[in-house]
Amino acid sequence: MAIILVTGASGQLGNEIKVVSKNFYGYDFIFTDIDTLNVADVEKIRAFILKNKPDWIINCAAYNLVDNAESEYDKALMINGTAVRNIAEVIRGSECKLIHFSSDYVFDGKSNVPYKETSEPNPQTAYGRSKLAGEKYALIHHGSMILRTSWLYSTFRNNFVKTIIKNASEKRSLNVVFDQTGTPTYAADLAETVVNLISGVIRNQIAFNAGIYHYSNEGVCSWYDFAEEIVKETGLDCKIYPVLSKEYPTVAQRPFYTVLDKKKIKENYNINIPHWRTSLKKCIKHLE
Ligand SMILES: NC(=O)c1ccc[n+]([C@@H]2O[C@H](COP(=O)([O-])OP(=O)(O)OC[C@H]3O[C@@H](n4cnc5c(N)ncnc54)[C@H](OP(=O)(O)O)[C@@H]3O)[C@@H](O)[C@H]2O)c1
Repeated sequence: MAIILVTGASGQLGNEIKVVSKNFYGYDFIFTDIDTLNVADVEKIRAFILKNKPDWIINCAAYNLVDNAESEYDKALMINGTAVRNIAEVIRGSECKLIHFSSDYVFDGKSNVPYKETSEPNPQTAYGRSKLAGEKYALIHHGSMILRTSWLYSTFRNNFVKTIIKNASEKRSLNVVFDQTGTPTYAADLAETVVNLISGVIRNQIAFNAGIYHYSNEGVCSWYDFAEEIVKETGLDCKIYPVLSKEYPTVAQRPFYTVLDKKKIKENYNINIPHWRTSLKKCIKHLE
């Protein structure tokens, strides 16, 4: 029976993988989080992997506090970079496959066409630099697949969708930036894609091709458009006003454009990706 280790399983994506895993029989999922398996602890991770001998590792553990990373880069790098190296070094040269996640923030946001896997990363934030370091470390193992994703949300944990619902329930109007363009990703869609992919490879239905891939939902929007749609779908009585990023400065300046080109994953793995509006509807239904 294939053993699938999931780290950081109490986060948005890890929780969605738990949900999806219930529909897959014949696999031994081991869900861990920082309290049971701290990926930054090199000795613990080595001992855990050698003892449990996973066939697959889905590394959902991450440091995602984009603003805080500017002042605690060491911590961000430890979890997003060094910890990935810890995992990759233990499984290096083995048949164990690593699925690791990275971010659209590895790009500088100066493009006006979707970023491909071959586009040059140029992170402008400490968070982006730590995620790029993680990509490089993951790739020291020949069996690593990196999925760069963007604007992740879920019914679990805190995220933009939940923040807008909360704020729009309490206020008559909200200001949301309209000069940052990207694509939201429902973590449940990403979770399903990952588990389907693993299952397809195990059953010899598809070939595993290591390397970097982009995955978000389909479509393009600004945070303003996203907020408008959330309010529309939930029926909340709140007006959303578009504002410029410079009117709401953050510690870490977000990239202006991070739409990801998903042709590679769609062609390699023959997957259909839902439009972000369709997936948002689904998530809101789950939240009701
Ligand atoms: N969220 C986004 O908008 C976004 C965008 C692009 C890419 N991504 C990437 O997508 C992946 C999944 O993101 P997500 O939103 O599901 O993240 P998340 O909700 O922040 O979950 C990350 C999990 O990792 C845990 N963790 C932190 N340090 C750890 C350690 N040393 N050892 C083990 N576990 C640890 C966290 O625990 P605590 O909560 O206790 O810290 C949390 O449960 C990540 O690689 C992330 O960088 C996310």
